Amino acid sequence: MRALRREPTERPPIWLLRQAGRYMPEYRAIRQKVSFLELCRNPELAAEVTVMAVDQLGVDAGIIFADILLPLDSMGVGLRFSQGDGPVIDNPVRTAEAVDKLPDFDPGEKIFYVLEAIKLFKKSKPGCPLIGFAGAPFTLASYLIEGGSSRNFERTKLLMHKESAAFHKLMAYLAKLTVQYLKAQRVAGADCLMLFDSWVGSLCREDYEEFVLPHSKVIFDGLKNVAPSIHFGTNTGGIIDLMAGAGGDVIGLDWRVDLAATWSGCPALKDKCVQGNLDPCLLFAEPDLIGLRAKKLMDSVAGKNGYIFNLGHGILPGTPVANVQYLVELVQQYKVHRDGPIAAISAGKK
Ligand code: CP3
Repeated sequence: MRALRREPTERPPIWLLRQAGRYMPEYRAIRQKVSFLELCRNPELAAEVTVMAVDQLGVDAGIIFADILLPLDSMGVGLRFSQGDGPVIDNPVRTAEAVDKLPDFDPGEKIFYVLEAIKLFKKSKPGCPLIGFAGAPFTLASYLIEGGSSRNFERTKLLMHKESAAFHKLMAYLAKLTVQYLKAQRVAGADCLMLFDSWVGSLCREDYEEFVLPHSKVIFDGLKNVAPSIHFGTNTGGIIDLMAGAGGDVIGLDWRVDLAATWSGCPALKDKCVQGNLDPCLLFAEPDLIGLRAKKLMDSVAGKNGYIFNLGHGILPGTPVANVQYLVELVQQYKVHRDGPIAAISAGKK
């Protein structure tokens, strides 16, 4: 929380994107018994999984176990998670008529289970900061329009370019809903609010500026004086100044950019915190290399306030848990090992 205020900290705080997930045997054991959506909709289980990740890794913050696509479930578009294919929307929203038919609803009422999970986490771990989150309008719109995950976002960009009014209407609808949802998460106890615009790096600057920025800005304007916020995207090297302009106290960067150079070189990031940005694939490598890269990253921003250690994107299934624990331990001992050998900590030793 001090890093979010850009106050000095003795070392960078660390949490990890997808810190609760399939790379953990205990998570897989729970998923043997319940589907992913059942897990999200069960506040006791969702809180348990959130606590589990914090306890096992010793990270400095939790992120509530949920998914950015849960609000879509309340839009009557038929959300499901299929084995192997990821998320599927049975009734995609691809026309102006379909946009007009989207229902108004109160996220605090329809997605109450996430709010309950937040309350249960805070009850169980009152001293541990908790991150609440939501999907950004563009990333949510891409799932609604494409009907699932996409490589090139052809249909999303077609609606954007050909039926611009309908696209803007959809984005405004999603932005309004997201402000309400994030505010409700704050009331439930989330200490920090994160907006995932995971796929926004697929856009050129003109499209980001015209079709996305004003709607993301509505969200961050709505969160001012509510809670500190994180604005995250991947592949955003070409639009990072525009993203920062849309808002967020923290800007999340992925591994495709040099974090220190981007932070110091982009005037729009001057008064922002920065989060990131190791390649999640690095966690499959030998601990020595993980340590070397983590130290290099921390050295590159040493002395700057407002740096939050993370990966550039989520932990991948199959990642050795011991390597994740090693990374957390290494970051938390950074001060101690700053000027000495970092290989002194053995992998997985807690
Ligand atoms: O620990 C955490 O980070 C919190 C939980 C969390 C999940 N999803 C759990 C999840 C968070 C923050 C998300 C966000 C999310 N969901 C994003 C944005 C972040 C990102 O990765 O860019 C996106 C794009 C989604 C949509 C989504 N959910 C996809 C594409 C998939 C399938 C791909 C995959 O990894 O399986 C999901 C499923 C999902 N969300 C899982 C988890 C743990 C795996 C579900 C399982 O147990 O089978």
